[in-house]
Amino acid sequence: MKLFYFFVKYFILTYSIIYSLSSAYSEDEDIIKIGTLLPYSGVYTVLGEEITNAMELAFQEENNEIFGKKIKVIRGDTEVKPNIALQKGRKLISSNKVDILVGPVSSSVALAIRDLVVQTKTPLIIPNAGANILTREKCSKYITRISFSNYQINAPMGKWMAKKGLKSAFLLAPDYAAGKEMMKAFRENFEAEGGVILGEEYTPFRKTKDFGPYLSRVKSSNADAVYVFYAGGEAINFIKQAHSFGLNKTMKITGAGWTTSPLFIPAQKDAAIGFIGSLNYVPSINTNENKIFKDSYLKNFGRVPSEFAVQGYDAGKVIIEAIKSLSGDISKKSKLAEAINNIAVVGPRGPLTIDKSSNNVIQNIYIFEVVKGNTMPTLKILDTIEAVKDPGTGCNL
Ligand code: BEZ
Repeated sequence: MKLFYFFVKYFILTYSIIYSLSSAYSEDEDIIKIGTLLPYSGVYTVLGEEITNAMELAFQEENNEIFGKKIKVIRGDTEVKPNIALQKGRKLISSNKVDILVGPVSSSVALAIRDLVVQTKTPLIIPNAGANILTREKCSKYITRISFSNYQINAPMGKWMAKKGLKSAFLLAPDYAAGKEMMKAFRENFEAEGGVILGEEYTPFRKTKDFGPYLSRVKSSNADAVYVFYAGGEAINFIKQAHSFGLNKTMKITGAGWTTSPLFIPAQKDAAIGFIGSLNYVPSINTNENKIFKDSYLKNFGRVPSEFAVQGYDAGKVIIEAIKSLSGDISKKSKLAEAINNIAVVGPRGPLTIDKSSNNVIQNIYIFEVVKGNTMPTLKILDTIEAVKDPGTGCNL
């Protein structure tokens, strides 16, 4: 009798394990899992939230479904820390079995997760991090960048500023990969047009709250302009402190355009006025696609979208179009990666294609000035540089 009960128990247990595994598997078959590796805490929190909001907006427009498969977003908080991002990335890939990863924001975090995504052949769509090398020497068919390379945003400003008669500049940026690459791209192009760099300083990343000592050194350089890059809380603090210090009375305040992103202007207010920068999106782009997107973003989130929102939205659009092009079959990661790299969209920022020789986006760069607006300062376009691409040096795809 004991033996009989043992076999019955064994049978029930084995059956329930097999049943739960097979139903989980078939449920998984009907779900498209998108893992995010974005900051939901730390200095770039608002950037991570903005990217996620807008990507989810693109999915909502499809009723969160592609070819009958539900889209599920699983969030991984990088905290803007490379080691944390690596742990979260491993979990999303091995435990959650995501089909696609979207992230990160920071260049240093992107460099840390690069080998993981390539070795596991997990398609990664970068919706921000600009580290040049990811679409140069360390490019991969599994990495597609729809945001920008650090070179792509800053090189045009070097040439543009020199041509506008600014003869000397002082460089200031956070001390990490992105800050260094952006300043290098600006410097090379500024110097190539005859500009002179009178000094440069790199502030401790995620730690600098008081820019006073740096502002004093910038001022005493007597340069025509300071060229900076900051984002998140550091951008808000830098712009407010530069304004209180009166730096704009002695030189032009210029830089990578994130420094006065529409995401930070509500906190910076009039202190942002007069800043000249470059970006891949500004809300004043006068196209139908942008008008529709802006209205929808405002309705859903109560604010004007920033470039981070557009990058998140376009990441969502690229995912949708790629999966549609495969009629919903995402079983082969290699095919999925190829489909992602073949997508071209005309979105809020203008036409967007993926450069086949690097998998970095080709896009317009907008040079703008922050001017007084009705309720809030706005970004007025001064120039549009069309179809800017990164050189993609060293990439063999
Ligand atoms: C970066 O680390 O690549 C980055 C972060 C914020 C804005 C732009 C670039």
